[in-house]
Amino acid sequence: MAATSSFISSLTKRVEGKVALITGGASGIGECTAKVFAHHGAKVVIADIQDDLGHSVCEDIGSSNCSYVHCNVTNEDHIKSAVEKAVATHGKLDIMFNNAGIIIIDNEKSDFERVLSVNVTGVFLGIKHAARVMVPARSGSIISTASVSSTIAAAGTHAYCASKHAVLGLTRNAAVELGQFGIRINCLSPYGVATPLAKEFNGDNDEEELEKSMSSLANLKGVYLKAEDIANAALYLASEEGRYVSGLNLLIDGGFTVVNPSFHLFQYPNDS
Ligand SMILES: NC(=O)c1ccc[n+]([C@@H]2O[C@H](COP(=O)([O-])OP(=O)(O)OC[C@H]3O[C@@H](n4cnc5c(N)ncnc54)[C@H](O)[C@@H]3O)[C@@H](O)[C@H]2O)c1
Repeated sequence: MAATSSFISSLTKRVEGKVALITGGASGIGECTAKVFAHHGAKVVIADIQDDLGHSVCEDIGSSNCSYVHCNVTNEDHIKSAVEKAVATHGKLDIMFNNAGIIIIDNEKSDFERVLSVNVTGVFLGIKHAARVMVPARSGSIISTASVSSTIAAAGTHAYCASKHAVLGLTRNAAVELGQFGIRINCLSPYGVATPLAKEFNGDNDEEELEKSMSSLANLKGVYLKAEDIANAALYLASEEGRYVSGLNLLIDGGFTVVNPSFHLFQYPNDS
């Protein structure tokens, strides 16, 4: 009986006592993950460039469990300070979630470079500075948000696709380098979620309409992908349940990337 109740409590507080730094935590997937991690007992530090939003997410979560730091992930000093703030406030860093990302039309060189700078250099800097404090501790979980664009073409712009392939490469390389120190590195690859990023890019501000249109292209029917689904996947990788998982690209895509729709082998009666 005692074993059962300790199992249940570990399921309800799956990151109890852990300290997490979340980039892009003021909105969308990062915001949701901050709330899920805090609910499961973590102390969360949100790092973002949207200061008002970041502070208001912290207020929602409660100041004893959440704090905010202004951090542009393309700026190495900002990332370094954010990691230092997490350690100064809570004494350690257990979980680094490199989640900040952008997607813009990238016909101009400057736009292409901007996307790579946030989506790739930002992740590289997050891994580098998290590792600086995790290596001496001989433990840590570093998670980055990639995308289905890490494995397939034409789900995003050129820079976005290139950047998310790069996040996967970085994840695998860093997992090999940092495994010797007990640090696990993984990435998450969601299909479309109706966050502010997706709404802006698709020019569709109506969440339900966007979900419907993304669902019409999805493989798995009858369910819309939500930010909570990504947050729960991050929770698994951050918690003890994921303790032997490293170098993984965890696709949260309802089987989207394994289908070649041209074959129509399993066509449903109401498909066109
Ligand atoms: N929404 C989707 O359909 C989808 C699908 C696959 C992957 N993703 C990825 O998920 C991640 C989160 O995106 P989201 O959909 O929650 O979007 P979002 O726009 O709601 O959140 C992204 C957050 O990143 C922050 N950010 C942007 N540039 C930054 C910078 N330079 N420094 C620090 N913070 C910065 C933004 O202020 C924002 O709070 C991104 O990496 C995105 O590529 C999203």
